[in-house]
Amino acid sequence: MWHLVSYDAGLMTNSHKKHRLAVIGGDGIGPEVTVEALKVIRAAGVDLETTDFDLGGARYLRDGEVLSDAVLEQLRGFDAILLGAVGTPDVPPGLIERGLLLKMRFELDLYINQRPFVGTAPGHTEPHNFVVIRENTEGPYVGEGGVLRRGTLNEVATQGSVNTRMGVERCIRYAFELAAGRERKHVTLVHKTNVLTFAGDLWQRTFNIVAAEFPQVGTAYNHVDAACIYFVQDPHRYDVIVTDNLFGDILTDLGGAVSGGIGLASSANLNPARTGPSMFEPVHGSAPDIVGTGKANPTAAILSAALMLDFLGEGDAADRVRAACANPVSGSTSQIADAIAAKLTA
Ligand code: IPM
Ligand code: MN
Repeated sequence: MWHLVSYDAGLMTNSHKKHRLAVIGGDGIGPEVTVEALKVIRAAGVDLETTDFDLGGARYLRDGEVLSDAVLEQLRGFDAILLGAVGTPDVPPGLIERGLLLKMRFELDLYINQRPFVGTAPGHTEPHNFVVIRENTEGPYVGEGGVLRRGTLNEVATQGSVNTRMGVERCIRYAFELAAGRERKHVTLVHKTNVLTFAGDLWQRTFNIVAAEFPQVGTAYNHVDAACIYFVQDPHRYDVIVTDNLFGDILTDLGGAVSGGIGLASSANLNPARTGPSMFEPVHGSAPDIVGTGKANPTAAILSAALMLDFLGEGDAADRVRAACANPVSGSTSQIADAIAAKLTA
């Protein structure tokens, strides 16, 4: 049995500590929204020392660097990593995603991807408030599989999903610990146990075992296709959702879409065991089509930075940042951030 330090039970509030951040603005709108997120955190009075890392598609096109082991070692020395977005249309799909983003998730053992959703879904009048705990180091993301006879009519491609008892259990336990500290105390497992019988069985049995340790936490199970309907029609049923890497990826885009848009969706890639830095990034991508236009909403990056503050023991500042993001003004990327920062310094 693994007993982990839970999300907010870690450090005490230490508002006079200087936090050493690695900043990877990345590609497209990534650098634009990251600058604004840093501006807002500083306006909240948090002491930061930042080091910029020039990584992403643009860097790769310049000199071939994606994420060397030497740079990865450097990243290990920071308190946290703030990331904008990576990926450019000029680089083959998967190269930066696997070589930079997934390499950080796997090598830094960022095994929880926590994505909160607070908003009012279209057609509803009451806000929902749920959080998706996405397993972040396994599933179909590990790159298991391969290709035979590529480019021929006899081509074969396989791509397996890797699920370990350890990986599944630590993720589910994190979800239950989180739920135990929330008001509604409820966890829903989302999977596809009716078709993915091997992986689904491991997830369901592990879920049942961990659930037995948390009698105060209610439980439910939804197939992932049904969960897509509930996200739209009945999002209020959810408190904490726990799911695998790929289902979590897809569901959290839908979560963003029903919670005010992907421009507000934040995420934390966590190493709850704190054996290294955790990484914080908006759910959205690099949006190369709007780069330089000022149309990117910095709120997702700002709320991701607030999740970082929670994890760094700056819960008060994080709450103030979240409160300042409520009732947003419209305007350009920097105007939105300036308005949020102004509320914090008022
Ligand atoms: C996300 C993104 C990534 C993922 C991509 C860029 C590899 O979509 O963080 O949700 O699939 O995990
Ligand atoms: Mn995604």
